[in-house]
Amino acid sequence: MRYLLTCNPGLEDVTGREASEEIPGARLIEERRGRGRIIIEAPPHVEEHLYRMRSIHSAALLLAEETVGYTRQALELIEEITRESGVHRFIPWSSAFAVRGERIGEGHEYTSVDVARHVGKAVQEAYEAEYGLKPEVRLESPGVSILAEIDDDLFRLGVYLIGERSWHRRGYRVYDHPAALKPSLAYGLLRLAGARDNATILDPMCGGGTVAVEAAYLYEDARIVCVDKNPRHVKGAIMNASAARVEDRIEFYVWDARRLEELLGPGSVDYVASNPPYGIRLGSPRSVRTLYSDFIPSLYKVMASGGRASLVTTESAYLAGLARRAGFRIAHVRKVRHGDLWVSLLVLEKP
Ligand SMILES: C[S@@+](CC[C@H](N)C(=O)[O-])C[C@H]1O[C@@H](n2cnc3c(N)ncnc32)[C@H](O)[C@@H]1O
Repeated sequence: MRYLLTCNPGLEDVTGREASEEIPGARLIEERRGRGRIIIEAPPHVEEHLYRMRSIHSAALLLAEETVGYTRQALELIEEITRESGVHRFIPWSSAFAVRGERIGEGHEYTSVDVARHVGKAVQEAYEAEYGLKPEVRLESPGVSILAEIDDDLFRLGVYLIGERSWHRRGYRVYDHPAALKPSLAYGLLRLAGARDNATILDPMCGGGTVAVEAAYLYEDARIVCVDKNPRHVKGAIMNASAARVEDRIEFYVWDARRLEELLGPGSVDYVASNPPYGIRLGSPRSVRTLYSDFIPSLYKVMASGGRASLVTTESAYLAGLARRAGFRIAHVRKVRHGDLWVSLLVLEKP
């Protein structure tokens, strides 16, 4: 069976790796780089494994994937593909359904609403032809949610498997930091840093503690340290960690990330994952550069040799220059989506 997994754009390979680790027999079919989508092949009934995955936003059983083009004629083809796919058989007796339309790419003569409407019509027709009555469409709390997406000239049809509420909105977010990371991106930062158990993992500008909470879920025997200079955010991070039931696994400090070695001791940290301020949502670009130029040397001092730090930033060239001057090697750079921005993710390594 084929499954479509959605994830943070820019982290498709991370999700591919997690899928092969978590889902027995899973095989990667395609990575849609930059689109936040991967397609895997796996045995039926993988829901319990999907629930454990930390990098995905949603998952659907993929029933059809066909080229339909950009013109309005695509809508007729979409109806035909939907009727033939058997998707209507996933709607239990007397249950309502909803179609969630999505369109990625440019240049289409139709909208995602058109796609959803035509798929909904075809589902009702196929259901009526087989069972003699039309199922109800209900957008709020439907029994079954159908995925209908256009990705350039491709049409994909599927059935959502683990609830369609975007999976990155974990239940533990009781304190809403104004520049919080998606937990799926926090997971990606940790994986790209190469973090592991029995090591010290630090988020030196932890805000609401997303990275620390994800680290506590991932690594049972790691020392996890959460630092922020703002007492309100540290209090919020404790609230989030407590809602996630991992507060006793994390050390929290109100401290300045420009003096980390004084708090934790030189050479004491193996892995760092963090999103320092960008100067867009918080502060100004100039104040952020001043902050980075004091933070990076302190980061170098506090890290152990061989340690790795993954950081997301909009000031990639500036941060990379500082990191090289401090003695770090730039091990990896890529673009990832953070909210409505494409930002750089850098992995620094201390030789
Ligand atoms: C973008 S936010 C981090 C959000 C966090 N990852 C989350 O998911 O909630 C950046 C954080 O850096 C903190 N910060 C800024 N300057 C700092 C400094 N010198 N030392 C420690 N923390 C600092 C801010 O208080 C803010 O909470």
